[in-house]
Amino acid sequence: MVGEVAVSGAKNAAVAIIPAVLLSDGICRIENVPAISDVNVIIKILYELGAYVKVIDNTTVEIDPTHINSHILSASMSSKMRASSYFIGAMLGRFKKAKVAPPGGCDFGVRPIDQHIKGFEALGATVTIDGGMVHAHASELVGSSIYLDKVSVGATVNIMLAAVKARGLTIIENAAREPHIVDLANFLNSMGANIMGAGTDVIKIRGVSSLHGTTYSVIPDQIEAGTYMLAAAITGGDLTITNVIPKHLESISAKLIECGAEVIEYDEAVRVIMNRRPKTCNVLTMPHPGFPTDMQPQMTTLLALSDGVSVMTEGVWDNRFKYVDQLTLMGAKIKVDGKVAIINGVERLSAAPVKATDLRAGAAMVLAGLAADGKTEIENVEFIDRGYDNIVEKLSAVGADIRRVTYIDPLTSRSAV
Ligand code: EPU
Repeated sequence: MVGEVAVSGAKNAAVAIIPAVLLSDGICRIENVPAISDVNVIIKILYELGAYVKVIDNTTVEIDPTHINSHILSASMSSKMRASSYFIGAMLGRFKKAKVAPPGGCDFGVRPIDQHIKGFEALGATVTIDGGMVHAHASELVGSSIYLDKVSVGATVNIMLAAVKARGLTIIENAAREPHIVDLANFLNSMGANIMGAGTDVIKIRGVSSLHGTTYSVIPDQIEAGTYMLAAAITGGDLTITNVIPKHLESISAKLIECGAEVIEYDEAVRVIMNRRPKTCNVLTMPHPGFPTDMQPQMTTLLALSDGVSVMTEGVWDNRFKYVDQLTLMGAKIKVDGKVAIINGVERLSAAPVKATDLRAGAAMVLAGLAADGKTEIENVEFIDRGYDNIVEKLSAVGADIRRVTYIDPLTSRSAV
């Protein structure tokens, strides 16, 4: 594949920023919003809660949250995605109370929220789980010091949301450092919040009494960019990925260079050129600035075609190798033992009908399909639509032979790529 692919706004930033709008006393205009189903779901939740939502164009939305007066998010609203848990922090911050059904999202084994709850409690909230709903309430939220026992993106976001209007100073130690944490902090600061240290492992939040409306542009998606970088590598291509922040891609670039790719950085683009079979490399996924777990299935797929044995160790989630069975159907030789996959590179993958078992696993199937001999059919592509804006159109434009097919089924309408 040869050409240019433009990256959309970051899913994991957008799904934190949009619930954060709830904390504003005015209209928020959010730009560079990705056209993906997770974002549509979160905007719909705000709309159903009573926000005025105006879609300005494909990537810009204006939200007026001032009319919202409900602090309840039902199971049917929240179960579709993980980020719905951010409404607990946002509603606590705005109403001092929240009633939210436990979040859904991709299934990587147990997905606890104990660190979120620890944070809310430290701020003075009482949190109970009753009738399948998380109930949190406080007469007043007061700043506090919170040490996270595990680096957690979700807990860091949720505590920031609950603390931003609390009285006094909140300190989050061992905080997540992901680019989307920094983006959320920048967004809140643009509304008048006082957050310092985002991007380091100590975040300090001095509570303010109110937040005003703002105009804000979401950062580019690190994982979408990384996925297209790997698309170049796995097809022996030459792709320039535009609208990126190269600094966010350093761990991915480093591993691609180890695999034999040439990676050229520009101010807001990276070019990946691969003109050999991938070399082996060992990868350990870690919180940022480590190699992102959300690139693990895609990287494993590249290494499945490498010239020897590579080891992929999943350092964040307990069970994120479910997709390996699907790659095996295409001829990959991978043995999984708990959180470690031993990848015996093969010379070629061959097309097969496969399933997307979750969002990034779906992206991995697309990469495998691009590299494989023959026509690969991927089922359950709704997982891919959760996080990739127009993936079929973007890949077609750089030479991929990829199509979205909707099966006409009398009971379900399923789409495949
Ligand atoms: N954890 C706890 N207790 C908690 C929270 C998390 O033990 O209270 C553990 C988890 O079980 C996991 C680790 O901490 O082992 C990290 O979890 P984290 O809270 O950071 O994950 P998350 O906030 O649920 C976000 C992304 C995921 C991404 C992870 C890790 C969003 C909406 N989701 O999830 O993204 O894998 O951080 O970087 O931001 C994806 O985009 O495909 C995706 C799954």
